[in-house]
Amino acid sequence: MNPAVRAETPADFAAIRAINTVAFGGAQEAALVDALRGDGDLVLSLVAEAGDDIVGHVAFSRMQVEQDGRAAPAVSLAPLAVRPEHHRRGLGTALVQSGLKQLTERGETLVFVLGEPEYYGRFGFMTAPAARFTSPYAGPYFQSLTLSPQAPSSGAVRYARAFASVS
Ligand SMILES: CC(C)(COP(=O)(O)OP(=O)(O)OC[C@H]1O[C@@H](n2cnc3c(N)ncnc32)[C@H](O)[C@@H]1OP(=O)(O)O)[C@@H](O)C(=O)NCCC(=O)NCCS
Repeated sequence: MNPAVRAETPADFAAIRAINTVAFGGAQEAALVDALRGDGDLVLSLVAEAGDDIVGHVAFSRMQVEQDGRAAPAVSLAPLAVRPEHHRRGLGTALVQSGLKQLTERGETLVFVLGEPEYYGRFGFMTAPAARFTSPYAGPYFQSLTLSPQAPSSGAVRYARAFASVS
């Protein structure tokens, strides 16, 4: 059975904070989600349900790709978190796949992620196309996924303001 994934509501905010804190073993990612939401930079924030509880969360936030003095919108996938006792049940996969489907339907063209290529490769994220962009997170974990032929293929990526406080 596919895990139930839905958009966050205000009633989920505390649980989302708790999921990110326990999954990452610290408060930084939870604070990032709160700051992205507070700044109005969340494009999509999804939760995965198990029974009456929510046990997984993913955030997609607005970012920009700048080239030749022009800015094109793109999306950052971060953070992705599942409660440890619910790992390996397909919840992370369901969250990412649902998010990418909704972004495609909305006409988004390009998504960036920083993470394990072994994990994100299953969704089509790749390091080679991401390497054509300049980014504060450039390196072997920096990946991109093109959703449309209209996507920019190079430029300088600018993350939402909340990422400035992430070390
Ligand atoms: C990464 C995470 C969200 C995956 O959630 P999940 O619900 O267990 O994922 P799924 O069940 O969809 O997929 C599990 C698969 O991913 C693999 N996987 C999980 N984390 C991985 C990693 N860091 N690197 C490579 N593979 C990984 C598992 O081995 C498993 O492989 P299998 O399908 O061959 O058995 C979860 O492990 C988590 O919350 N981790 C802590 C926070 C984190 O690191 N988030 C990602 C930041 S980029």
